[in-house]
Amino acid sequence: MGKNINIDWNELGFDYIKTDFRYISVWKDGSWDDGKLVEDNMLTISEGSPALHYGQQCFEGLKCYRRKDGKIQLFRPDQNAKRLNNSCRRLLMPEIPEEKFISACVQVAKANEEYVAPHGTGATLYIRPFIIGVGDNIGVKPAEEYIFCVFCCPVGPYFKGGVTPVNFMISDYDRAAPYGTGAAKVGGNYAASLLPHENSAKRGFADCIYLDPATHTKIEEVGAANFFGITKDNKFVTPKSPSILPSITKYSLLYIAKEYLGMQVEERDVYIDKIYEFAEAGACGTAAVITPIGGIEYKDKLHVFYSETEVGPVTKKLYDTLYGIQFGDVKAPQGWIIEISSDS
Ligand code: PLP
Ligand code: COI
Repeated sequence: MGKNINIDWNELGFDYIKTDFRYISVWKDGSWDDGKLVEDNMLTISEGSPALHYGQQCFEGLKCYRRKDGKIQLFRPDQNAKRLNNSCRRLLMPEIPEEKFISACVQVAKANEEYVAPHGTGATLYIRPFIIGVGDNIGVKPAEEYIFCVFCCPVGPYFKGGVTPVNFMISDYDRAAPYGTGAAKVGGNYAASLLPHENSAKRGFADCIYLDPATHTKIEEVGAANFFGITKDNKFVTPKSPSILPSITKYSLLYIAKEYLGMQVEERDVYIDKIYEFAEAGACGTAAVITPIGGIEYKDKLHVFYSETEVGPVTKKLYDTLYGIQFGDVKAPQGWIIEISSDS
């Protein structure tokens, strides 16, 4: 590492740390400019920007990992590009060409390579691409200009303790409406989750679980992560619903469970009053990786799955395989890894 960066990699949480470079590109008069890396982490935008008033913005989250041989790599950035464009279509924002998105992430990771933790610490470089609608405006209408920015921060575990179980409670609030923006990664969904999250934290839970907004009978999201359960007969099950954010980690686990661990997999309704069908349960996402769910509180009772203190054996196998692929220790399926070399 070329630079003296004073970070205790083992103590990192999930917090903003300013790194050296970020990528900025501007959309104006119907097209994106070439974009460039800049050092300034401040954005100056009009007070009328639709992103500020009407939430016309969307974002992504992916990570850069250091392998044992010292090289760094991204995990499935093409999937983040596709999902960002899906969010853009939902909010009438201009799409980003996939190659531009991946190139921006590669440039940012490479320019901030000193912030990618050494292999074996478990810490990573979290990359946050986002698009905001900007410019002078007051009416409820799409912006005429947009900023695409990609910045990054070194991070450790999202939920304290990493792969040790945490408990969740069921939220009385919804994060998304039945035909709303739940499947898009837009800021408004997260603004809606702040109060329920705070309520659950005050009661000692890691976060809350959202049920389906139409009937409140089915599990949808675990805070800012997707849910999975392992049935007593060893099936990997994860909820299916149009208001869930389609998690790239979840789709990767569906593949890993089937192709690496030989399990049967199901994407289907998961009823909250049938959670006793699961021997183990977990939350999955880029930030959460796999966080085992110790128990879920529902109707004043805590239902414990495998254990409140130990990760279950199937969850552990899924974790080890996913983690191994992401850090380059386990062979990845074709196209999942973008290696960042000095000439990329
Ligand atoms: N669900 C929500 C609401 C999220 O914010 C995230 C994080 O991106 C996820 C699920 C997990 O998605 P992914 O695995 O693509 O990070
Ligand atoms: C992610 O897992 O990338 C997320 O976006 C979760 C959260 C930090 C918003």
